[in-house]
Amino acid sequence: MAESATISKGLEGIIAGETGICAVDQTSLIYRGYEIADLAAHATFEQVAYLLLVGQKPSEAELRAFSAELIANRPVPAQVVDYLRAAGPMLKAGTAVPMDVLRTCVSILGNLDADSQDNSPAANLRKAKRLTAKIPTIIGHMQRIIDGKDLVNPATGGDPALGHAANLLFLMSGEKPRPDYAKVLDVSLILYAEHDFNASTFTSRVIAGTLSDLHGAVTGGIAALKGPLHGGANEMAMEMLKEIMRDVGEKGIGTAAVDDWMQRAFDTKRKLMGFGHRVYKNGDHRAPILHALGRKLALTDTRNPGGHSAGKWFDLGEQVQKIMLEKKNIHPNVDFPCGLTYFTMGIAVPQYTPIFVASRVTGWSAHVMEQHANNRLIRPIAQYVGPALRHW
Ligand SMILES: CC(C)(COP(=O)(O)OP(=O)(O)OC[C@H]1O[C@@H](n2cnc3c(N)ncnc32)[C@H](O)[C@@H]1OP(=O)(O)O)[C@@H](O)C(=O)NCCC(=O)NCCS
Repeated sequence: MAESATISKGLEGIIAGETGICAVDQTSLIYRGYEIADLAAHATFEQVAYLLLVGQKPSEAELRAFSAELIANRPVPAQVVDYLRAAGPMLKAGTAVPMDVLRTCVSILGNLDADSQDNSPAANLRKAKRLTAKIPTIIGHMQRIIDGKDLVNPATGGDPALGHAANLLFLMSGEKPRPDYAKVLDVSLILYAEHDFNASTFTSRVIAGTLSDLHGAVTGGIAALKGPLHGGANEMAMEMLKEIMRDVGEKGIGTAAVDDWMQRAFDTKRKLMGFGHRVYKNGDHRAPILHALGRKLALTDTRNPGGHSAGKWFDLGEQVQKIMLEKKNIHPNVDFPCGLTYFTMGIAVPQYTPIFVASRVTGWSAHVMEQHANNRLIRPIAQYVGPALRHW
């Protein structure tokens, strides 16, 4: 190692490159100049996807053409459907989870894409749009196979009259979604779309930096996102809340039983999923936006998930958040309200992180294009701490 170099475990605090796509700091989250609360309140996911991929806000005509392109590209090839059917038993056996299956589907799509080996900006944009269009169809078909039901309109990849978020819900459930569910899912996709050099995006950039291809970079991004310290936290946050609910019972919500549960978690140094962040130490800007919307949906909950109304889950989540802040001064990240919100909508928990992929694929693709446009191989150095020189 060069004498002047210093070690930063987890690359914490290291500026590893420049980006014009997104700015993440303590006080704001900005996509190409637009603040996240502004986008969440006024844009649609399709508009944000265009903004990220193309670089500017679309005109009405550009948005129409872009949305039409996404809709036209929704169906997935027969080879992907065949693989999804073959993966059914693997999902049942637990040797694969939906994120693994989605990763393989993206890899197969690369094998079938006429542009797969072309890293030009135009080819990368075409591939990014195709992936953005097809990932919800993969998620929907996969869930139908898990549920033992017929695929929803495989020839069209859902309903061409539905927007991106609504169609994703339709593909999974086979029912036209409530407009408020579709709207909140759409906002969650906006919030999840981009986050500068997070672990999965950095992975994608490292892959792109070797001049490898976009499908490979997205496949790698999915593998990185799956981990519970990253995107997998939205599923794990909900699993943790279910565990607390099981342990304390519905009557325990709002009582000291939850404090006791949390104290045991602190005593055993357990990491609570959906809390903390490498960059945001005073709170994640996305979390309150999604929490408020999810909370509102929970108030209108007409189902009865898990034997409790969705409102009860928010009550429990809010109590856990309060204890975490008081005892540890740690704020929830976006994955915490996401788990609660997707649960309220009745989405199967193992699809929460795949839905994150359905959004983040736009951010990853934008970064792959940015990396290819001004490339330098990403190759840090390590401090050797192994055995001293010896003879074989
Ligand atoms: C996201 C995460 C990996 C960031 O980690 P990091 O930047 O390395 O943060 P640190 O581990 O340095 O955290 C600082 C302290 O807060 C504690 N902490 C951080 N997140 C915590 C959590 N979720 N639960 C309990 N304690 C936590 C750490 O244990 C550490 O305590 P210590 O100083 O006593 O050792 C971490 O907060 C985490 O594991 N969160 C849970 C998973 C999650 O929600 N991931 C999604 C992120 S968007």
